[in-house]
Amino acid sequence: MIDRPFVFHVSAADAILSTYDRHIERRLSDLNGMFADGVAYDALRAEGDPLLYEVYEIQRPELAGELLHGLSVVHPGLVGDEYFMTKGHFHSVLETAEVYYCVKGEGVMVMETPEGEWAVEPFRVGGVLYVPPRWAHRSVNTGLSEDLVTFFVYPGNAGHDYGTIETQGFRKRVIHRQGETQIVDNPRWLAPENR
Ligand code: F6R
Ligand code: ZN
Repeated sequence: MIDRPFVFHVSAADAILSTYDRHIERRLSDLNGMFADGVAYDALRAEGDPLLYEVYEIQRPELAGELLHGLSVVHPGLVGDEYFMTKGHFHSVLETAEVYYCVKGEGVMVMETPEGEWAVEPFRVGGVLYVPPRWAHRSVNTGLSEDLVTFFVYPGNAGHDYGTIETQGFRKRVIHRQGETQIVDNPRWLAPENR
């Protein structure tokens, strides 16, 4: 662990950090049950287990005063008509925010609060997205031929709560239909008062 100021570089061209401690890979099987089209999921799984996204992290202590940061790379592709995406999560400490800077590609961030308020905001190169405290977030790559690469920063004590999203998904799904990106309702999503 470095306990002095340090510098590193984000290469947009290679979608890589000049230095990192941890490399996480998430494959289709890691998102079992998260895509709407089960038949398309099974067909893709029959061919293999494609890599959906990768995270490169620089290790820091998980303390409130620290800032965890790294690079998220969502590869292009579809499961049926649904774009490749991250699992998505709330922070365990709900009152913690996150900042994303889009380095490469195009996509959207799907977000929602525990009360069911939702938002979908674009990722464009050079754009900065602020995810306020309490908003669950999922990155979606809507560029069908290019990686979506974002640099993220969030408080060291945030933690990750995947449970709610694993159970019923986000309120909105992002799909590719008739040559365009559409935001549609997720039929499995239940309003908080009906859970
Ligand atoms: C950290 C954060 C990102 C994501 C990454 C992968 O709080 O939001 O680093 O962890 O984009 O997404 P998940 O964690 O949802 O698999
Ligand atoms: Zn997060």
